[in-house]
Amino acid sequence: MRNWLIEFNEPDIIDLLGSFKCERNEDIESYLKQKAILHERHNISRTYLILDESDNIVAYFTIAIKPMKIDDVSIKNRKEVAGYLQQSVANISGYLLGQFGKNDMFASEITGETLWNYAYNIILRCHINIGLRFVFLECGNYEKLICSYENIGFKPFRHNNETGHTLMIKMISADDSRALEIA
Ligand SMILES: CC(C)(COP(=O)(O)OP(=O)(O)OC[C@H]1O[C@@H](n2cnc3c(N)ncnc32)[C@H](O)[C@@H]1OP(=O)(O)O)[C@@H](O)C(=O)NCCC(=O)NCCS
Repeated sequence: MRNWLIEFNEPDIIDLLGSFKCERNEDIESYLKQKAILHERHNISRTYLILDESDNIVAYFTIAIKPMKIDDVSIKNRKEVAGYLQQSVANISGYLLGQFGKNDMFASEITGETLWNYAYNIILRCHINIGLRFVFLECGNYEKLICSYENIGFKPFRHNNETGHTLMIKMISADDSRALEIA
């Protein structure tokens, strides 16, 4: 989206984003239409649009660096996400996959796994350059959706009783970043 903000006028971008529909998750649709440009301009997050050959938006995701609360999880989980800092910190920063969704109109053109590969590639480049240990996201409590995240390497980390959401994490593997550096 960053390139679009350089190349196009804002009203034209808003027009292009208008074609994105996501009935299963209204937040995904409204974030793209109402907040993505603002957050991009204020450097709060980066939104990446996946386009097909006809320039339709088939899917998008948003990445930001955010702290994750770890003072109320098991010692085992704290150790995993915070490493040697586990006893001294209440929060630790990771890459938040804030938005992740396909456009209903073109959903058959991309799988969640392909969309994730685009996102993970960007995260790995950041990880190589600036560090951080994990990716996390908040997922609606739908068994099949949780399952689709498990298939790409996430695991449930904590249940949020207030929102009913499941926080899921994926530790960034040294093998993955090495593979990217070699490629
Ligand atoms: C997340 C997503 C990119 C994963 O894509 P995918 O791996 O190709 O998986 P699918 O789209 O086939 O979804 C897997 C299953 O989860 C279900 N599912 C996906 N998103 C769902 C949602 N928001 N609410 C309820 N169920 C959902 C699907 O219906 C499907 O079940 P089915 O096989 O019975 O139809 C895609 O499901 C999507 O765009 N969902 C809507 C947006 C969304 O909810 N994003 C997640 C935010 S945490």
